[in-house]
Amino acid sequence: MTRRRNPYAGQDPATREAKARGYPARSVFKLQEIDRRTQLFRPGLHVLDLGAAPGSWSLYASQKVGARGRVLAIDLQPIEQRFEPNVVVLQGDAFDLESDRLGQFAPYDVVLSDMAPRTSGVKFQDQSASLELYLRALEVAATLGKPRSYFVGKLFMGPDFDTAVRATKVHYSKTRVIRPEGTRSVSKEVFLVGMGLRRSNDGENEPQDGRTERVTDR
Ligand SMILES: C[S@@+](CC[C@H](N)C(=O)[O-])C[C@H]1O[C@@H](n2cnc3c(N)ncnc32)[C@H](O)[C@@H]1O
Repeated sequence: MTRRRNPYAGQDPATREAKARGYPARSVFKLQEIDRRTQLFRPGLHVLDLGAAPGSWSLYASQKVGARGRVLAIDLQPIEQRFEPNVVVLQGDAFDLESDRLGQFAPYDVVLSDMAPRTSGVKFQDQSASLELYLRALEVAATLGKPRSYFVGKLFMGPDFDTAVRATKVHYSKTRVIRPEGTRSVSKEVFLVGMGLRRSNDGENEPQDGRTERVTDR
């Protein structure tokens, strides 16, 4: 009798569980938790997903927004994941894409960024590359988001963390910091969630009522 090789052998339990549920990566559980805590998605919403490969977040968002919703998935890498027709995939650099391609389902209700730099192993260099990606995603979200829309951005924790929080508060009524349970213990990543894009989009000053709610400690 020939023995079938377990296709998930060698993967950690979260990755095995994600794959068993049809998602290409364990990162889906982070978005699921952020969604549970902040009520990100509803049927019919338009979502922009920056740094979408291999496709777990886009697949999750696509299922949550349903057939009337739209998801634009963008990554430097090709995405092999199959999606429902409510998802459009673009291979490209979030820094370079023309605004009409980036904004094809704008104004967006939710902008996601799980973008991560190729890590060099030099801590400060990686943190600063991560901040650059975060601020770029925030700029896109503030430009193409609907009033009162949400933004979720990944950031490697470092000395510039407060810069990212302050920049987020300029645009959003409320900012939360979430380190999902599914994050590997060695990982330095956190997610900032901007809730309620300001109508004017031109807030120069930190809002009087703008709170940063830390939900990282458990
Ligand atoms: C952690 S992965 C994203 C995982 C994804 N959220 C998922 O659930 O499948 C980070 C991705 O960011 C992408 N990325 C990094 N810089 C980018 C850029 N400037 N433009 C677009 N994508 C970028 C990388 O290619 C990588 O695929």
